[in-house]
Amino acid sequence: MLKVKHLSKSYSSGDQIYPVLKDVSLEVGKGEFVAVMGPSGSGKTTLLNCISCFIPHEEGRILLADRDISHLKEKQLSKVRNRQMGFVFQDFMLLDGLSIFENICLPQIIARRPVVQMEEKAKNICRLFGIEKIMEKYPAEVSGGEKQRTAVARALMNNPYVILADEPTGNLDSKSCKAVIDAFLQAKKEMGATIFMVTHDSFAASFCDRVIVLKDGQVYGELRRKGTRRQFMDVLLDTIRTLGGDGDDDE
Ligand SMILES: Nc1ncnc2c1ncn2[C@@H]1O[C@H](COP(=O)(O)OP(=O)(O)O)[C@@H](O)[C@H]1O
Ligand SMILES: [Mg+2]
Repeated sequence: MLKVKHLSKSYSSGDQIYPVLKDVSLEVGKGEFVAVMGPSGSGKTTLLNCISCFIPHEEGRILLADRDISHLKEKQLSKVRNRQMGFVFQDFMLLDGLSIFENICLPQIIARRPVVQMEEKAKNICRLFGIEKIMEKYPAEVSGGEKQRTAVARALMNNPYVILADEPTGNLDSKSCKAVIDAFLQAKKEMGATIFMVTHDSFAASFCDRVIVLKDGQVYGELRRKGTRRQFMDVLLDTIRTLGGDGDDDE
């Protein structure tokens, strides 16, 4: 569903060039829940921003359902981001002036979809995530976990090819964290969603099918979940420890 091929990206400041992603290649299959883990500064956010083409890269290709989106014009890109990608951010990015229900509807309003169909779909997703009771509330009136489940619901509205999530549990306590992960798992199970999640949290990553480990802008390795979730989490914790960082993002 999503393929990244030989992606390289550097930032420059003055006449200095800092390579951040070095020949990164990876694939995420349809219906897969994949995490990217790595120490702070390893290039996780940069990778997500390159995949969504929010920032340009120097080398490599980004394929979404086998279509190369690396060189699209801004207008086509906006359409791809609205219809084929769903986004979930650490700080929720909900619109404070809209209700939870209206926030969830937003991607379909932008895509100019028929209202009846849109409301039906939003209600179904709210039901699936157990947030129908807060539909009429505003973001300031709900908990962090509820905000993030709202963001996941919104990301699903246009049935995107892939959901891109950057540290979605980063601002949440452990109970809310699990509620958000459950929303992803439900989206995968009930809607066949494909999820690509960047996280420094071994607990969150241990629910994934596969974890790609990033170090200094390179793919260091890949771990496929085997055994119980608890065992997988221990493997992830060990790996992150070996990398010489706790993977904690404090920025
Ligand atoms: N806009 C930018 N300009 C210059 N350097 C940046 C920019 N964004 C990130 N970097 C640098 O690129 C590296 C990777 O950052 P980032 O992708 O945010 O890592 P992560 O999300 O894994 O913590 C870091 O060294 C960071 O300082
Ligand atoms: Mg980051």
